[in-house]
Amino acid sequence: MTTARLFVAGATGYTGRHLVEIARARDLEVVAHVRPDSARLDHWRARFEGMGATVDASPWTAEAITAALATHGPTHVFGLLGTTRARAGQGLGSAVPETYEAVDYGLTAMLIDAAALLTPQPRFVYLSAAGVSPHARNAYLAARARVEAKLAASGLTHVIARPGLITGDDRDEARTGERVGAVVMQGLSALGKVAGFGRALHRRYATMTGAQLAAGLLTCTLRSDGDGPEGRGRVLTLEAGTLHDAA
Ligand SMILES: NC(=O)c1ccc[n+]([C@@H]2O[C@H](COP(=O)([O-])OP(=O)(O)OC[C@H]3O[C@@H](n4cnc5c(N)ncnc54)[C@H](OP(=O)(O)O)[C@@H]3O)[C@@H](O)[C@H]2O)c1
Repeated sequence: MTTARLFVAGATGYTGRHLVEIARARDLEVVAHVRPDSARLDHWRARFEGMGATVDASPWTAEAITAALATHGPTHVFGLLGTTRARAGQGLGSAVPETYEAVDYGLTAMLIDAAALLTPQPRFVYLSAAGVSPHARNAYLAARARVEAKLAASGLTHVIARPGLITGDDRDEARTGERVGAVVMQGLSALGKVAGFGRALHRRYATMTGAQLAAGLLTCTLRSDGDGPEGRGRVLTLEAGTLHDAA
């Protein structure tokens, strides 16, 4: 069996950094992608290389990302990218505009196209979000629905995870709104369970830390490597703190 070699786009994010760490602890080969215009490129390079990962700082252009994947030949490509409404308002001056269209859809679509060109093709793992459906109206969910549709049409074997809120004390951004939301959702979720009507609510909105999500994602992904053609696409949702195949 081929040794797993992971290419992680969004490695500097809350989920991504845990994924790199957990995968390295399991002795898997990891290429951590860090955007070249990152203000903390040196920090991330030192941190990831210290774990034994390779750092790739190719720019986000179709040519460069395609070349990077061809160079590394990953068995698994993780798309863990996304911007936030707060970032959009900050005008961070990155090479890619901080919009859901440009980052959440555009960069992930670029990654899918690059992965689909590889031979053999890697398994693609996409971190989507709870609530994503083709009928979603809000811009965040709609961008993610389009990524899911593109992935399904790509021919790539893939895993899509739709967790609820990802939060924890070890986030470096304050994200006050998100934390308040997490507490409220946890309360609602528990209430729903007790009342017996909230199983779906609980499944959709229970919270997870970045480490829990990364570990679950990695385990589910590696476990599904033995799937036949019927395992071409898997969708995972959250229940009682762990990822499960969607009903
Ligand atoms: N947080 C939640 O509750 C939640 C719930 C469900 C799904 N999700 C989705 O899951 C994904 C990962 O979540 P997370 O909380 O781990 O995200 P995160 O900590 O915000 O990390 C986002 C990643 O995307 C990268 N990124 C953002 N803007 C970029 C740009 N303009 N150009 C290039 N890279 C850019 C960041 O790179 P830099 O570090 O260089 O900025 C970082 O690596 C996101 O797509 C998110 O929408 C999140």
